[in-house]
Amino acid sequence: MSNCCVIGLGYIGLPTAALIAMSNHNVIGVDINENILEKIRNGNVHFYEPGLLKILKKVISNKKMKVSNIPANADIFIIAVPTPFKKNLDSLPQPNIQYVLSAAESIAPFLQKGNLIIIESTSPVGTTEKVRSIFKNISNCHVDDLHICYCPERVIPGNILNELVENNRVIGGINKLDAELASEFYKSFCKGDIKITDARTAELVKLTENTFRDVNIALANELSIICDELNVDVENLIDLSNQHPRVNILKPSCGVGGHCISVDPWFLVSAAPNSANLIRTAREVNNDKISWVEKKIHDAANQFIKENGKSPIIGCLGLTFKPNVDDIRESPAKKIVDNLISAGLKLIICEPNLKNIQNINLDTLDNVIYKSDLIVFLVAHDEFKKLNLENKNFMDFCGVSKFL
Ligand SMILES: NC(=O)c1ccc[n+]([C@@H]2O[C@H](COP(=O)([O-])OP(=O)(O)OC[C@H]3O[C@@H](n4cnc5c(N)ncnc54)[C@H](O)[C@@H]3O)[C@@H](O)[C@H]2O)c1
Repeated sequence: MSNCCVIGLGYIGLPTAALIAMSNHNVIGVDINENILEKIRNGNVHFYEPGLLKILKKVISNKKMKVSNIPANADIFIIAVPTPFKKNLDSLPQPNIQYVLSAAESIAPFLQKGNLIIIESTSPVGTTEKVRSIFKNISNCHVDDLHICYCPERVIPGNILNELVENNRVIGGINKLDAELASEFYKSFCKGDIKITDARTAELVKLTENTFRDVNIALANELSIICDELNVDVENLIDLSNQHPRVNILKPSCGVGGHCISVDPWFLVSAAPNSANLIRTAREVNNDKISWVEKKIHDAANQFIKENGKSPIIGCLGLTFKPNVDDIRESPAKKIVDNLISAGLKLIICEPNLKNIQNINLDTLDNVIYKSDLIVFLVAHDEFKKLNLENKNFMDFCGVSKFL
């Protein structure tokens, strides 16, 4: 049993902290956002994740987990704060590791000889070494007496608790002993295989995994545009192509969102701008799909005006970055809806996973179906797969219509 301090109680840190506390460790969860802390203290969560509320209530009530806005002494520190990118208009997007460095600075006064510090935030190569440099200047212990590791997350929102336990993990240490100590700790709540490597390789492994998915989806998205030109059903094409035992093309959609796959490949492109050509192109293909979808909707609206002499009411279905979650970070569907609203189109919008959202009026699914002249599927939520769309015009950008 160890005392653990988890810095950052978001989609990754909160389930991780709760699971560690369920495995009999004592946990202090730290966040700089007082609203989040207040919610957790009151036995609530600030985002939906199946099973999370139940275990969180348990570990808060039996005092295995406490929350605070400042770190405390512990044996093990886990950093799970955001690593966004800085969007630059005139140059490549750059990773922003300031949250990780600030989190490291915040734990520095509490570090003691023998402590293990684990970075879980998806990070550019070299971040673990930068965090170590911060600890060179502390007076409480020598940096060589600390164990520092990088251990990336592979979980998928919607199945986080299960995947935290079952997934294989990669742990990269500043040295081998660091990684071995972290491996022993993860074995106390993970059933997956744990592979040990150095910190730089582990950082690159995480970026490579998300880049693999981005490049694969870019192929699917490019195929969807080619199929549109050649009048072939892309969903059917990919299903049939995937019958090949060594082909596995992912799904096309209206773009790639979320704060992992649409962000992390830029960490590689910015680190090696002259070499990461395929990776950069894949990012651009996935980003450009958004404007392609918008043009298709504008064309359909113009056609409707020609035929009916009035503007259509367009029913937009889905706003989140992927099906069946309430997360809109970097969501292509949200960007499309924002742009269509700015362009003056008449929209009526349903997002069944959100109660409200800033600057957008949400409507019920029934209303959207009933009132729309043209329905646009942007996200393949389960609710949309059961619709009866007899006599309704629709455009499908996410592969929902094959279920109708
Ligand atoms: N969400 C995912 O599915 C996923 C999957 C794999 C990896 N990751 C990576 O995990 C990391 C965390 O992602 P997330 O989705 O949990 O982010 P999040 O935005 O949901 O949560 C991060 C939390 O950290 C807090 N925070 C920021 N700075 C802090 C500080 N100095 N001290 C204490 N708290 C601080 C924020 O208030 C926030 O609550 C990111 O690097 C992300 O790329 C996320």
